[in-house]
Amino acid sequence: MRLLSALLPATCAFALVIEPTAGHLRDSVALSNIHRPSVFSWLRKQSSILTSTEEGSEDADFAAWLSTQSALSFEGILANIGPDGANVAGQNVKPGVVVASPSREHPNYFYHWVRDGAITMRALVDEYEMSGNTSVKAIIDAYVDNVRSTQWTSNPSGQVGRGGLGEPKFEVDGRAFVGTWGRPQRDGPALRAITLISYMRALQRRGASIDSLHYLYDLIKPDLEYTSKFWASPGFDLWEEQEGLHFFTAMVQYKALLLGEQVSSDFSDQGAGRWYHIQANGVKQFLLSFWDDERGYLVETLATARSGLDAALLLGAIHGGSETVFPMHSDMIIASLQALVADMRVRYPVNEQDLYDSNDGPVAVGIGRYPEDVYSGGDLINSELGNPWFLCTATVAHTLYGLVESLALSNTGLMISNLTADFYLPFLSRTIEPDYYDFSATAAWSRSATILGFKPGSRETEQVISNIFHYADGFLKIVRKHSDGEGNMSEQFDRQTGFMRGARQLTWSFESVLGAIKMRERAVEAIEKRRAFYKRF
Ligand SMILES: *[C@@H]1O[C@H](CO)[C@@H](O)[C@H](O)[C@H]1NC(C)=O
Ligand SMILES: *[C@@H]1O[C@H](CO)[C@@H](O)[C@H](O)[C@H]1NC(C)=O
Ligand SMILES: *[C@@H]1O[C@H](CO)[C@@H](O)[C@H](O)[C@H]1NC(C)=O
Repeated sequence: MRLLSALLPATCAFALVIEPTAGHLRDSVALSNIHRPSVFSWLRKQSSILTSTEEGSEDADFAAWLSTQSALSFEGILANIGPDGANVAGQNVKPGVVVASPSREHPNYFYHWVRDGAITMRALVDEYEMSGNTSVKAIIDAYVDNVRSTQWTSNPSGQVGRGGLGEPKFEVDGRAFVGTWGRPQRDGPALRAITLISYMRALQRRGASIDSLHYLYDLIKPDLEYTSKFWASPGFDLWEEQEGLHFFTAMVQYKALLLGEQVSSDFSDQGAGRWYHIQANGVKQFLLSFWDDERGYLVETLATARSGLDAALLLGAIHGGSETVFPMHSDMIIASLQALVADMRVRYPVNEQDLYDSNDGPVAVGIGRYPEDVYSGGDLINSELGNPWFLCTATVAHTLYGLVESLALSNTGLMISNLTADFYLPFLSRTIEPDYYDFSATAAWSRSATILGFKPGSRETEQVISNIFHYADGFLKIVRKHSDGEGNMSEQFDRQTGFMRGARQLTWSFESVLGAIKMRERAVEAIEKRRAFYKRF
């Protein structure tokens, strides 16, 4: 029961888990019960959370940066795509190939990674879906052509249909990379299927018939087959270091199979659909095993000597989460985010300069990949110490905006369980009385039960949502602080000095910041909707 509820969004979990008191709590948070005039007059008086009066100009600067940086991030992505991107033109990069970074030494990232390529193209698909921009479409089409030849390229992981799809990276001219590497990596085909399926859906919404899209299904299917056959087999993690079974990998595999089930039925491929359905259920069950009840967070790799804390947990929720399985706002993801940030806060000296007094709760800091990281990014100085990464810092912001969106759209109020108490308590004012509390639910089996509840529309609930939003902004402000005025972002920023280091103009840095800014836009929309709702009374 506990595990089942943990996989569900917090709102459903509550109804399922604390049955004995559910009625009581449900009554106390029902919308019909919140006609408290004082609360609504308080809400009306709130200035917009997007432009607080005291820090008006700082907020205007930040808003301007968000808009400039999202444009520059998009340009930064395009600059690394062959054949004509500004950073790669004339260097024999095949059309549609996404180069990880223009850096060719210390480190050499001048390759096409299947994972980075799929994640990056997903951002282009979102842009195309929104704008219908035909030059963006042309780049995606070139990527699609390149997927076809990549899938048919024999490589050290194997041949087509014999494991070759698990190959993590290729030369930029399309040839197999034959050097020693951490292979296979089993997240690539799943991520590629997710991207191709979302492209297919975008084309459908823009009027394409299903019959005209068979060429995409022909590329999606081998990736789904690979995913469905190998999800239980060990491989290397997304950081290419650990061999084993990984949360991020399983999350994107689950999502690919879930989407794959629908797509195969659109193409009347019923047998495949049933098979993906069964395998998806298997992955869903398997995902439960990444929860470590003693540590109180998810672990990225099973049976690892490491702590298990990893920004990859959040990336798993961002790229593989669904409403029913570890969405960004689920208690277990938020508990893991809290533990990761608490570690990173004291890990890097640079984070001390970023700390400042705040009445609004915890402050944001630079986030690295995982506590034990010693990869310095290929630089020759301080070459055995890990650093904070742009993409990991942006990923925390992204996850928090996801939580804000969910809280703002929920009408069940704020429900805090033992799993998320460490996260929420710093956002609560000490004087306020909760509308509901039950501290009896502290045994291990009931840690996901609500121990504190606040009504929707109450001062406390609204203030916490607003504070979390500002906290999320803090992580993007860290990104702003360590990037340069031209919008460039490398892979890392120095743990001591804060200056950029590691591969320059990393495609994934741009993608992750762009993704966080887009998620922020959704969070703002949700908050505005919520305000409009409460102002109705
Ligand atoms: C389409 O996207 C490209 C690349 O971002 C951009 O240069 C161009 O201005 C866009 N076209 C339109 C019509 O918006
Ligand atoms: C929550 O669980 C922790 C164990 O992880 C325990 O130490 C703590 O007392 C619990 N707190 C509440 C309020 O239940
Ligand atoms: C920063 O980005 C600009 C383009 O936006 C580029 O011309 C410049 O070379 C970049 N600087 C570095 C250090 O990469």
